[in-house]
Amino acid sequence: MQRFDVVVIGAGAAGLFCAGAAGQRGLRVLVIDHAAKVAEKIRISGGGRCNFTNREATPAQFLSENPHFARSALASYTPQDFLALVERHGIAWHEKHKGQLFCDRSADDIIQMLLKECDAGQVTRWQPCCVRDVRPAPDAAAGRPRFELDTDRGPVGAHHVVVATGGLSIPKIGATDFGQRLAERLGHRIVPLRPALVPLTFDPAVWAPFVPLAGVSLEVTVSTPMPEALQAKRRKAAPASFVEDLLFTHRGLSGPAILQISSFWVPDEALTLDLTPQRDLAVLLKQAKIGSRKQLSTAWGIALGEAVPQRLAQTWLATQAHAVPTLRPDALLADLRDRDLEALGQAANQWTIVPNGTEGYAKAEVTAGGVDTRELSSQTLESRRVPGLHFIGEVVDVTGWLGGYNFQWAWSSGMACARAL
Ligand code: FDA
Repeated sequence: MQRFDVVVIGAGAAGLFCAGAAGQRGLRVLVIDHAAKVAEKIRISGGGRCNFTNREATPAQFLSENPHFARSALASYTPQDFLALVERHGIAWHEKHKGQLFCDRSADDIIQMLLKECDAGQVTRWQPCCVRDVRPAPDAAAGRPRFELDTDRGPVGAHHVVVATGGLSIPKIGATDFGQRLAERLGHRIVPLRPALVPLTFDPAVWAPFVPLAGVSLEVTVSTPMPEALQAKRRKAAPASFVEDLLFTHRGLSGPAILQISSFWVPDEALTLDLTPQRDLAVLLKQAKIGSRKQLSTAWGIALGEAVPQRLAQTWLATQAHAVPTLRPDALLADLRDRDLEALGQAANQWTIVPNGTEGYAKAEVTAGGVDTRELSSQTLESRRVPGLHFIGEVVDVTGWLGGYNFQWAWSSGMACARAL
């Protein structure tokens, strides 16, 4: 049996980062990944440029049944710490909007940096290699390894096992629920998994009028009620809400606004979209009516303004006729009642629609849910049930917003664990 101080399962963002840091502390570290290539998710991230952190990351941008869990790891290894590492490796970077930091050249720069950090810690890497079993060793007290692993390359003994196998998103590049299943088998509760940062879909009959709008994009405010599981106890939380770009697709909605809100959306719940966050349409329509000879469709296009593409403005208006029959697009504005115009304006400032699902793990950037944080130490990411077993990165029930937060969690949780090994 080969022996290591630490075996890290999963050579993705969190696993490689943790392995390098642990190796540099003098520990004998083995990283195992079942995929031939490491860190494929980093490679495809941020449109190939990897949004590797967010300068403004705080615990407030993370979802978890325990909203305080991420606090300690995020405070002990910050976006500025990771940026300093990126700069030490001479990687050129730039800031997009809202604190998001990207590589100038390629996401591969981050992968190469992580591999160099592993080399500096003399980390052993086995890939592709499958882990068939992980079990706490029966006689660990007698100075023997605490864990035994069966792998494609033979049995391995380790004092610590770090599970960094991520979530279920993008199965075609090797995502599995290995970590969650292992955790469950060893007695940990799992917060149910669901695709997050994912496009939302609608009933095809409801969506038919909007299909020709695929590709249309605009800035909106989108909101949905805060799911009960994410609400602080005994306090009714405000709805989750984002002001971001929305993108129409053939099957529904996508774009940053929808990816963000999807992490909070629960089946059968509605989304509320404000198509003109800067304009009170009820007021504008009633003002436009005074002395007007215009048709509703013309006045409507003007009221929505340039921020809303005309194709969307007119399609949306046509779909509302069923709600208020007098609101035919060719009706004269002057003939319409104020209260009908108010209803129309309010309907666009609070467009309420109910998705019928998501595009699933094939399109989800992350997996929400995972190993229940109540089973883990927030300082070391070590299991409270199985000493020496750690869970880091996306396998844990901590999910970041869109914008570099999920990688920051991978780095912060990976470092918190490495320092404790
Ligand atoms: P990660 O998924 O990185 O690594 C898990 C590793 O475990 C993989 O190498 C996998 O092969 C391995 N593994 C799985 N099962 C195994 C098994 N049974 N045995 C052995 N190995 C196994 N985030 C962000 O902050 N900024 C961004 O720009 C993006 N962009 C982005 C784009 C796309 C398309 C996706 C899908 C995701 C993002 N993300 C992102 C999210 C980010 O990629 C993600 O949160 C982190 O990679 C999670 O890091 P982990 O190390 O936890 O898992």
